[in-house]
Amino acid sequence: GLSRREQFAGRWAFIFAAIGSAVGLGNIWRFPYVAYENGGGAFIVPYLIALLTAGIPLLFFDYAIGHRFKGSPPLAFRRLSKWAESIGWWQVLICFVIGVYYAAIIAYAAMYTWFSFGERWGDDPEAFFFGEYLQVPEGVAPTLEFVPAVFWPMLVVWVILLVVLGAGVQRGIAMASLIGIPVLFIMFIALVIVALTLPGATDGLNALFTPNWSVLSDPQVWIAAYGQIFFSLSVGFGIMITYSSYLKRRTNLTGSGLMVGFTNSSFEILCGIGVFSALGFMAQANGVQVADVVSNGIGLAFIAFPTIISQAPLGVLIGVLFFASLVFAGFTSLISILEVVVSAVKDKLGWSRWTTVIVVVGVSGIVSLLLFSTTTGINVLDVTDAFANNFGIVGAALVAVVVVSWLLRRLDGMVSHLNAVSSFRVGRIYKILVAVILPIVLAYMWVSDVVLKATEGYGDFPAWFVGTFGWGMSIALIVVAILLALLPWSQRSALHSE
Ligand code: PHE
Ligand code: NA
Repeated sequence: GLSRREQFAGRWAFIFAAIGSAVGLGNIWRFPYVAYENGGGAFIVPYLIALLTAGIPLLFFDYAIGHRFKGSPPLAFRRLSKWAESIGWWQVLICFVIGVYYAAIIAYAAMYTWFSFGERWGDDPEAFFFGEYLQVPEGVAPTLEFVPAVFWPMLVVWVILLVVLGAGVQRGIAMASLIGIPVLFIMFIALVIVALTLPGATDGLNALFTPNWSVLSDPQVWIAAYGQIFFSLSVGFGIMITYSSYLKRRTNLTGSGLMVGFTNSSFEILCGIGVFSALGFMAQANGVQVADVVSNGIGLAFIAFPTIISQAPLGVLIGVLFFASLVFAGFTSLISILEVVVSAVKDKLGWSRWTTVIVVVGVSGIVSLLLFSTTTGINVLDVTDAFANNFGIVGAALVAVVVVSWLLRRLDGMVSHLNAVSSFRVGRIYKILVAVILPIVLAYMWVSDVVLKATEGYGDFPAWFVGTFGWGMSIALIVVAILLALLPWSQRSALHSE
C-alpha cells in the first residue's frame, strides 16, 4: 500500500494494551457483586465455563478479524464484505457512547481520590455524593446547571486522552498501559493486603466465597456469568478488532489472547477479595450482616467505600489506593474505547492521526462535558449504560458472529488465519463454539433483556426518559451506522492506500 498502518512495537506492547482495556471498572465494581449475587463460590463454575466457551472464543474471533483484515471495525468488516461495513460502524458508535460516560466516572473517581484525604463526605456519603457533589435535581428531567467539581476533572481526563491518543499506537496507547497496568496492579495488591487485615474481613470473604451450589440450575446465573465475561473481556464491540489490526503480520494471536483472558480473570478474583474484605469490615463496624452492605457500581464506589474509609484504620490509605485504582483501570479502558472511534474515522477519511484525534476527542469531549458536567448527568448515565451494555454490545456481537459464520461463511478462513500465526491451535470445537454456542447464548441474552425492559421498563425512570436515552439512543445508533456505511470511502482512505 501507499502508507503503512501504525503498529505496536511487539507482542508485549499489544498484550499490555489489551489488558489495559480488559481490566476496568467491571473488574473492580461489577465482578464482586455479580459473583456474590449468583452463588458465591459456586459462581466460579459458570464463570469459567463462560470464559472458555464464549469469552476466549469471541476474543480470538475479534483478533482474527482485526489482524486478518488490518482495519478498524468498519474497514475490517468492509474488507470481509461490502455489506458488512455497517456492523463495524455500529460497534464504533457503541464505543463513542460508552466513552462519553466512562470519562465522567473516571473524573468522579479522581475527585474522590482527593476527597479521601479530608473525608470530604462527612457522615452522610450518600447525601454528599448525590446532593453536594453531583447536585442531582429532584426530577429526572435535564437541567443544564454547571457542576464545576465534575467539569474540571472531566476536562483534565479529556485533555490527557487527547495527548495519549495523539501520541499514537506505540508511544501513546501501548506506553500508557505499559506504565499504568503495573502501577494499577501494585496499588491494588497493596489495597488487598490492607483490606485483609481489617477486622471483619473474614466475614466478607465467607460471604463472597461460600458456595451455593443450587444456583447452577438457574439460567439467570448462567446469563450473569456470560454477561460478566463479555463485558469484562471487552469483546464483541470493536476494541479487540482495532488493537489486533496494529499487530505485525506474524504474531501469536491465540497465545496472546489466553494471556489477556487469564490475567483479566485473575485480577477480577483479586478484586472480589479486596472489595469483600472491606465490606466485611463495614458490616462488622456497623453491627449488621454483610448482606446488608453489599452493593455495586456507583453505590459501592461512592457510598460504601467512603463509609469504610471514614471508619477504618488506615482509611485515607484505603481511599487513595481504591480511587486511584479506579482511575487507572478506567483510564486504560477509556483509551481503548476512544481509539476505536479514532481509528475508524482515520481509516475512512484518510486523515492524519493528530487531525483525527483532535476532531474525535474534541467532539466526544464536548458532548461528554455537556451531558455529564451538568446536573442531568447521573440519570442519563444510568439508562445509557444499561442499554449500551445489552442492546448494543450483545446485539452487535450477535450480528457479527452470525453474519461471519452463517451469512458470509467465512469462519473457516478465520480459523486458518489464527492457526497460521499462533501457538495454540483451534479447530472443530472452536468452530462449533463460535457458530452455534455463541449465537444461542447471545440471542438468549439479548432477547430476554429486551423483553424485560419492554415489559417492565428500566429502574424507576419514566417511560419518556427510558424511551429517549435507552431505546431511542440504541435505535439511533443502528440507523446512523447504516448511513455511515453508505458514505463513500475517501480516495486517501486506508481502504485504497494501505
Ligand atoms: N472490560 C472493561 C471492564 O471490565 C470494561 C470496558 C467496557 C472496557 C467498555 C472497554 C470498553 O471494566
Ligand atoms: Na475486565
